Amino acid sequence: MNIQLSERLKTVASFLPKGAYFADIGSDHAYLPCYVCSHDQTARAIAGEVNQGPYESAKESIKRFGLEESVSVRLGDGLAILEGEHDVKQTVIAGMGGSLIKQILIEGQSNLKSIERIIAQPNIDERDVRRAFLQLGFQITSELIMEENGHIYEVIVGDKVKNTRTLSDEELLFGRFNF
Ligand SMILES: C[S@@+](CC[C@H](N)C(=O)[O-])C[C@H]1O[C@@H](n2cnc3c(N)ncnc32)[C@H](O)[C@@H]1O
Repeated sequence: MNIQLSERLKTVASFLPKGAYFADIGSDHAYLPCYVCSHDQTARAIAGEVNQGPYESAKESIKRFGLEESVSVRLGDGLAILEGEHDVKQTVIAGMGGSLIKQILIEGQSNLKSIERIIAQPNIDERDVRRAFLQLGFQITSELIMEENGHIYEVIVGDKVKNTRTLSDEELLFGRFNF
């Protein structure tokens, strides 16, 4: 079955490596994990949702696309759904404000131990995401700005490093790669 995905989420997905094992926090219908795992038979994903309605929608999508083997869904707040997981390597947090993304990352930092890459797509307050990445030891390695249906979106990718480089006020606001 063909899974329709917005260009915004396809762009987010493009930053996942082949064979990814990732969590999509705030997954809503789980379209992103379903799209990725239907295009890459070696990928696996966990869709996380804090709200019952979107959680049920995610379960429905996974069943409809026949992806129960590769995509699981968990009900819980932010990164708490990764408690006890040691193999998940990437996390996506997309379609929310940057302050909420920052809150999810900071409050859930104990569950980021196995995470090598975070792909964030904040709708506003991008600076909060960059601050959280620095605080948590994720160096920004890619960023882009895109437009879809008259809306502008930013995608910010951070990879875990031993020492993060500090960012100037301008870089925090606009990113290192977006000038
Ligand atoms: C606007 S939707 C974005 C859905 C999808 N990620 C996208 O980019 O299209 C935000 C989703 O995040 C969920 N959400 C909000 N706060 C959350 C949290 N703390 N933990 C998990 N999910 C959360 C909401 O229930 C909602 O389904």
